[in-house]
This record gives sequence, C-alpha cells and structure tokens, in this order.
Amino acid sequence: MLNFNFQNTTEIIFGKGVETQVGKKAAEYGKKVLLHYGGTSLKKFGLYDKIIKNLKDEGIEIFELGGVLPNPRLSLVKEGIKICKDNDIDFILAVGGGSAIDSAKAIGAGVKYDGDVWDFFEGKVTVSETLPLGVVLTIPAAGSEASSGTVITNEEGWYKKSFGGNVIRPKFAIMNPELTYTLPGYQTGAGAVDIMAHVLERYFTNEKHVELTDRLSEAVLKTVILNTPKALDFPEDYNARAEIMISSTIAHNNLLDMGRESDWASHGIEHELSGIYDITHGAGLAIILPAWMKYVYRSNIDRFVQFAIRVWNVDMNFNDPEAVVLEGIKRMEEFFTSIDMPTRLSQAEIDSEKFEEMAAKATEHGTLGNFVKLTKEDIVNIYRLAE
Ligand code: NZQ
Ligand code: ZN
Repeated sequence: MLNFNFQNTTEIIFGKGVETQVGKKAAEYGKKVLLHYGGTSLKKFGLYDKIIKNLKDEGIEIFELGGVLPNPRLSLVKEGIKICKDNDIDFILAVGGGSAIDSAKAIGAGVKYDGDVWDFFEGKVTVSETLPLGVVLTIPAAGSEASSGTVITNEEGWYKKSFGGNVIRPKFAIMNPELTYTLPGYQTGAGAVDIMAHVLERYFTNEKHVELTDRLSEAVLKTVILNTPKALDFPEDYNARAEIMISSTIAHNNLLDMGRESDWASHGIEHELSGIYDITHGAGLAIILPAWMKYVYRSNIDRFVQFAIRVWNVDMNFNDPEAVVLEGIKRMEEFFTSIDMPTRLSQAEIDSEKFEEMAAKATEHGTLGNFVKLTKEDIVNIYRLAE
C-alpha cells in the first residue's frame, strides 16, 4: 500500500426534500450568488422556482447564467467569470450534473485569477484560490459534486482538458434522489457507466496489499450493477435512485484512491471522443473500457481474474485464467448493452478518420495511464479494438 493523503471536506446533504435547505446553506457563504445551470431540465421540472424562492427567502441577491452544455464550453466559463467580477459575486450555486458543476468550478477559479482561465487547464498555473461553490445535484454520474476536478472543452481546437485541486471541491452538495426521477433512460445508463468507470480507473492498479479499497470498490460496482436496471424499469424507485446517487459520490471523492496508484487512461482516451464528437461521456466510456481491458489485461492477469470472479461472478472452474478474464469483460459488455449503452464506435457512428489525431492529442504530454503506460500507437490500437 502506498502512502497517501486524503482530504474531502464537501458536506453531503442527502435525502428526500433536502433541496429546501439550499437558501440557508448558501447564506453561510455569501450574499450575492451566481446561479449556474444547464438547458431546459431545471425549469421544466419545477426545481428552478423552488430554488429561487429559497434563495430569496434568505435575502440573497441572484444573478443567473444558464445554458451550460453537456461537455461544457470555455466560452460560457469566460462569460461567467465576467458576470462575477462585474457584480462582486461572492458565491456560486451550480444546479445540475457534472457539466454545470465543472463550469462553475472553472468560473470560481477564474474569478480569482488575473490571467486566462485556460492556463489552469494547460498546467501553466495551479489553483490556490476560488469562489466558494455549492451544488444541487440532479444527475448522479460525474461525481463532480465532491471531486477535486473540472473538465472543460475549449472550442478553439476542441481540446477537452481538466485541472484540479482540493480548493475547488464544492463546500456542500445537496442530493435528493427524487430529483433524478425525471432523467431520461439514456442519461441514467450513461451515468451508471461513468460511476463504474471512476471505480475501475482506481481498481486497475499494480499496487499490492490494497484489500480494503479493492473490496470497497467491488461494493460500489455491485451496487450500481444491481440498481441501475431497477431505476430504468421504475424511474421513481427511490431506493434504487438513492443507491446510485451515493455511489456516484463515493466512486469519485478519492476515498477509493487510498494507498493505490490510479490509472485514468480510459478517461483520457474517452475525453478525446467527447471533445471532438460531443458524445455523452458515459456512453464514450462504455465503448472505450472494454477495448482498453482487452488491450492491457495480459500485463496483470491476476487483477483481471479477481475482477471477473468477484464483480461478474465468473466461475473459477473456467478452464484457464485468460478465459476467466475474457468472460468477465464479456459480461461487462453485456451489462452495458442491457442498459442501452453502446459498446462499439460504429454504434455511435464514429469512424477511424480521427484516430491518429485523437491519439496524438491524448499523448501530447507523454504516455497515458499508469496500469500500462500507453503510447500514441497503443491508443490507436485501442480505438481500432473499439471499432
Ligand atoms: O442541460 P439540462 O437541460 O439540465 O439536461 C441535462 C443534460 O442534457 C440532463 N439532466 C440533468 N439532470 C436532469 C436532466 N434531465 C432530466 N432530469 C434531470 N434531473 O442530463 C444531461 C447531462 O447532464 P451533464 O451535467 O452533462 O451530465 P454528467 O453529470 O454526466 O456530466 C458530464 C460532464 O462531466 C465531466 C464529463 O467529461 C462531462 O463533461 N466529468 C467531470 C468529472 C469531474 N469534474 O470530476 C469527472 C468525470 O469523469 C467527467 O469527465
Ligand atoms: Zn468520468
């Protein structure tokens, strides 16, 4: 087990009706709030009115910036920074999923920095200060409600990049599973894959003696595998929605990193897809994860055998370790298919035209991933396996 430092100070406020606490919580951090959200869902399902009333009841002055797109864009982040600076805004409230939250994180960091906010994403500066941020989560997926990262797409060149630091974690995350009843099945499925991917990026490590975090990771995976079909069959199944929602946070709040080296190659390879083709992140991962696994499993077959047996219940009596591993990957693909996720690029109508370009972008700062260090050629091969 590696040495580690774990700090996560996001306050999780979880359960039925908890969104009514948003005004009181926001008032702990500021008097002038930027309310930041996505497209139509917030107003369509009535949450917008509740939040406005709640903030006004606490005497909070509200400035609004909606229109965050899935795969959020840098231009809107810059607009948000300007609104905050012009109006001396002291707090940001993001309502939505990873996209609204990530956009809000970038705005918060940009307000406290005199240069171009993209500098953070290019690694030219590290973040040391930000506006405080609160979240009302409406889709469990990205885990951004308690994560230390933000991912933004720069329309100039379609670069999708991230940066992070403990300082940008939200101060609080209000999480009512009932708010996720209105999610389209596609978003429920994509969210489930993203949650699983956040666990798998950590699970596939070469570090030994990480039994506790292995078992915790397997528990999150099994919880998502069990509850996602229930939520798809009965969108108003509170208990299934609640299990998925807390899984989203645990998968990505760094608890499961303790003592291990994470991988992150599949995310790097996927971010090129969603950066260029604007595919839903979770759907992109459902395509990339099986291909990545098929490409790397031989480098540490024992870990993949453990995954197949413990997570996918593959029988130990299968004739050889390789057969056990391949059966495990097959069952994962079948699960993705059963929740209506694509597992091949062709299903997302993506051809080989940009494989070289995407692989070059993914490796512009060196090899990708830690479980196996992937070169540009490796990544092209993984895209080919996913065709
Ligand atoms: O825009 P609206 O109209 O709100 O619709 C959204 C959007 O179309 C809809 N939606 C959200 N809540 C809803 C709802 N529809 C009905 N009812 C509700 N309750 O769902 C769609 C997707 O929303 P989005 O915020 O894009 O989803 P998600 O949470 O999956 O976020 C994806 C983004 O997060 C990044 C991804 O790359 C992607 O850009 N990630 C962020 C991470 C982080 N900061 O730690 C880690 C992840 O690995 C990921 O990369
Ligand atoms: Zn993800």
